Amino acid sequence: MKIPLIIDCDPGVDDATGLQMAFATDQIELLAVTTVGGNVPATATARNACILRQIAGREDVPVFAGADRPLRRNPAGAGEFHGAEGLGDLSPFETRKGVEAEPAADALIRLVMERPAGEVTLIMMGPMTNLALALRKEPSLASRLKQVVAMGGARSEGGNITASAEFNIWADPDAAHEVLSSPAKVVMLGLDATHQVRVSEERIQTIEAIDNDPARTVAAMLRFSQRIEREIVGWHSAPLHDPCTVAYVLAPELFDVVPADIRVECDSDLTRGHTAVEFRVKPEDTRHLWAKGVRDREVFYLIGQLLARAGEPK
Ligand code: BDR
Ligand code: CA
Repeated sequence: MKIPLIIDCDPGVDDATGLQMAFATDQIELLAVTTVGGNVPATATARNACILRQIAGREDVPVFAGADRPLRRNPAGAGEFHGAEGLGDLSPFETRKGVEAEPAADALIRLVMERPAGEVTLIMMGPMTNLALALRKEPSLASRLKQVVAMGGARSEGGNITASAEFNIWADPDAAHEVLSSPAKVVMLGLDATHQVRVSEERIQTIEAIDNDPARTVAAMLRFSQRIEREIVGWHSAPLHDPCTVAYVLAPELFDVVPADIRVECDSDLTRGHTAVEFRVKPEDTRHLWAKGVRDREVFYLIGQLLARAGEPK
């Protein structure tokens, strides 16, 4: 059976790679892509999802636009890492198909509630605003989901937006708090794991050698990230965050995950969005898993394998 999946995202160059992986595989039944303001404003993330869908030839997948601002904070942005339009060096273009009329939070509720309990997985690649709004409206959604696989948070790595906070959690800490306090089972792939997955020239060339538009798009995103990482951070190789979520759904054995109790700091200005990840917890007393490590070579191999099959019937 295919894996019923919804992807909530804020594309975003690494979101774009994750989306192309999910569009490319026949192991996933992609029920919807929902978008949220994050890396760039919400109108741009929704448009970008439509662009990436068209590049993949997957207009069978509906796109629903969601929250244009966090629950209680001003919208953030990370355009310097994703390009002003959120697509790196790729220029936006008019798509054949746009977003659906239904708001993302309503679509999330409808699509999950119409399936049997414990069936649908939700991937979150951006701030958790849409899911928090959906849970406020339909609290039983939390236990209806099979699992939430979220890119967010940091423990041993420290933060990438402040000393202790990772961008997705920092951007809407209140939403992350509501999601992590709900009965939802959440697998958190934070910087401790995603910083282990690094772009390299050899890895980019492997993707460039694949002769289709989704692979060319991903290669362009990776080249952009690599350049920006060197310019802004001064590191040699860019981390690939969001694609880890799709890799986890397809191949969880590539990740070293441990039970944890994960809480989010919402009150302090200094440590806003810090994730307090407590390992001293009995597995039966928590619904959270925290990723400590990942087999990065296998993740890149998977990305290549998936993109090589992009364009085949799903
Ligand atoms: C996360 O922040 C965003 O800029 C990326 O798309 C990723 O989801 C990494 O901290
Ligand atoms: Ca993202």
